[in-house]
Amino acid sequence: MDSTGRGDDYVHVPVVYRRMKFDLDADVPRYWHSESAWITHFMSALSVLFPEGERFFIDSVRHYEREIDDPDLEREVRAFIKQEAHHSHHHQAYNDRVTAQGLGLDRWDAFVGRILRFVRRVAPPKVQLAATIGLEHFTAVLANQLLTNEKLTRGMHPAVRPLWIWHAIEETEHKAVAFDVYQQVGGGYWTRVLMMARMMIGFPLILHIIQLSLVRRDRRLTDWRDALRFARFAWGRDGFLRAIWPELRAWYHRDFHPWQMDNRQLIEAWRGEYGPHVVGM
Ligand SMILES: [Fe+2]
Ligand SMILES: [Fe+2]
Repeated sequence: MDSTGRGDDYVHVPVVYRRMKFDLDADVPRYWHSESAWITHFMSALSVLFPEGERFFIDSVRHYEREIDDPDLEREVRAFIKQEAHHSHHHQAYNDRVTAQGLGLDRWDAFVGRILRFVRRVAPPKVQLAATIGLEHFTAVLANQLLTNEKLTRGMHPAVRPLWIWHAIEETEHKAVAFDVYQQVGGGYWTRVLMMARMMIGFPLILHIIQLSLVRRDRRLTDWRDALRFARFAWGRDGFLRAIWPELRAWYHRDFHPWQMDNRQLIEAWRGEYGPHVVGM
């Protein structure tokens, strides 16, 4: 077993960089998820976190690039960086579309940028990497929901769905990359669990604040039927935000590793959905 904890039984999943093309200008309705403003704006709230957030992930991992001595991990880090940069690019295109609808999403992008610039200034590199692995875990469990909880994808417009599926697939592929870098550079248990404890509150909170601001600007705040529908969709009996808690709690085990939840079969299972949008590898 080496310092990343990658023993002989390690789940090696190829991290593949794919260049993608999506056509979001096609007749995508304003409420492209389930014809619901509340649900669509939740997805947009998630999307606006990606461009700045993923740049932060890339930089916090890149900081330790020279210290990685496992050639497999080195290769995966390079692919991770390319994947995240490409996610940012496509989510920016999506976000620009929402901004053009007069919903002011660009202001949230700038807000996220300001927060992360502050974090870069005050937090040591290892703490920044701990924030990255915590958020990567959040992203990975949300991705797993997206790929396994049919309720989440059923209502998506067919032009937008492949973007989310592709992103979820690649988040699954690279879910352990930043984590293994953290392990290899001697990141500690308490730093990562204290960071996650903050995020379990902060991340859903910021998502809902952005969602509410979008719904308000769209004058749908008093659409109670839609609000209730979203509440059931997200927090109801098999709501995806409720379903992720056991997976988030697993993070607190001392010997936690992202591949303890082995869901790599999903990468192949969804090929039919994202495959047609691959334009290069
Ligand atoms: Fe990503
Ligand atoms: Fe990621």
